[in-house]
Amino acid sequence: MVGSGWDRVPIDSQSIDAPLSRAAVFLTLTVAEGHEALQVVAGVLDGLDDLIKTVGFRDLNGRLSCITALGSALWDRFQTGKRPKELRPFLPIEGAKHTAPATPGDLFFHIRAEREDLCFEFERLLLDQLGSSVTVADEVVGFRYFDSRDLLGFVDGTANPTGHDIGASTLVGSEDQAFAGGSYLVVQKYLHQMQPWARLAKDEQERIIGREIVSNVELPDATSGQKSHKTLATIVDDDGTEHDILRDNMPFGRPGQGEYGTYFIGYSRHLWVTQKMLERMFLGDPPGMHDRLLDFSTAHTGAVFFAPAPRTLSELVEAVQA
Ligand code: HEM
Repeated sequence: MVGSGWDRVPIDSQSIDAPLSRAAVFLTLTVAEGHEALQVVAGVLDGLDDLIKTVGFRDLNGRLSCITALGSALWDRFQTGKRPKELRPFLPIEGAKHTAPATPGDLFFHIRAEREDLCFEFERLLLDQLGSSVTVADEVVGFRYFDSRDLLGFVDGTANPTGHDIGASTLVGSEDQAFAGGSYLVVQKYLHQMQPWARLAKDEQERIIGREIVSNVELPDATSGQKSHKTLATIVDDDGTEHDILRDNMPFGRPGQGEYGTYFIGYSRHLWVTQKMLERMFLGDPPGMHDRLLDFSTAHTGAVFFAPAPRTLSELVEAVQA
C-alpha cells in the first residue's frame, strides 16, 4: 500500500524496517510518578544510541537494534504541548466470546538482534540505568522458530509489506507533519491452548489461518460466513485501498510451565488500521463470527505506544532537561 503524503516527507525514523531477527526482547515498563523519575528516563533515552553502540559493536554481525516507544499518559507528562494525532491508550474489546484487555505500559522497548546474548546484555544495562524510576510491567523473550513459524505451526509474517511499502505502511506522513517518521505500535501477549489446537484436523487449522501449513500457500478468501484470520486481518477502505501493518511477531514459551505463546507487535502509520483488525478479529465479520484463532489463543496484555522519529524523541528529552 502506498498512501498519499508519505513520499514527500523526509525519512527520519527509528529502525522499524530492521529485518526479522533471530532473537528479541519485548519490554514494557511503567514510569514512577514525579519529575525526578521523568528526568532519569529522559537522560537514559538521550543516551540510548550510545548504549546500542556499546553493546552492538561487540559483534556487528549481531545487528543489535532497539526501538523506543511511549504510551499516551507518559507522552503528556513530557508537556511539549503537542501530541501525535491518533495516540491514545489501548481500547479494550469485549467480544461475545473473547476479550482483548488493556494493560499498563508507559515505555516500550523492542530489542532485536541475531544473538540472544546481545538482547540480554542491552536489556540488563538499560534497566540498570533506569533503576527505580521504572517498574517492569511485562517482559517477553522471543525467538525465531525454524522458518519463522509461530508455535501453532504456521509461517508468520509472510504478508508483511516489503521495500518501499514498509515506510508507506508504518511511518506517519504529511497527514501529521509534526510527527512524520513516527509509528504507532500495538502489542499483545497471547498464550495458546496447544492441546485442543493439536486435536484439530490439519485442514481445519488451515481454514482458521487461511494458509496451507506446509507450503504456506494462501487459501481463497471466504466472501461470507466464517472468515479466516488472514481475511479478517485484511483492511480495505471505502476507496478500495488496502492498508497494511508491519508485524514482528515472535514465539516465546517455557514448556516446563506449559507456557506457549505469540507476542504480537504491529507497527502502523495509522492506529485505526490495527484497531480495525482487532475489532474484526474479536467482534467478527459478520458480527458474532470472531476469528477462530482466538479459540486457541488468549490475549493477556494489550497496549498502544508511539515510536517517535529520532528528532521528536530528542525534543521530548530536551523538554524535560530544560
Ligand atoms: C496473518 C498468526 C495475531 C494481523 C497471519 C498469518 C499467521 C498469523 C500465521 C498468515 C501469514 C502471514 O501473512 O503472516 C497470528 C498469530 C497471532 C496473530 C499466531 C496471535 C495469536 C494477529 C493480530 C493482528 C494480526 C492481533 C492484528 C491486530 C495479521 C495480518 C495478517 C496476518 C494483517 C496478514 C493478512 C494478509 O494476508 O493480508 N497471522 N496472528 N495478527 N495477521 Fe496474524
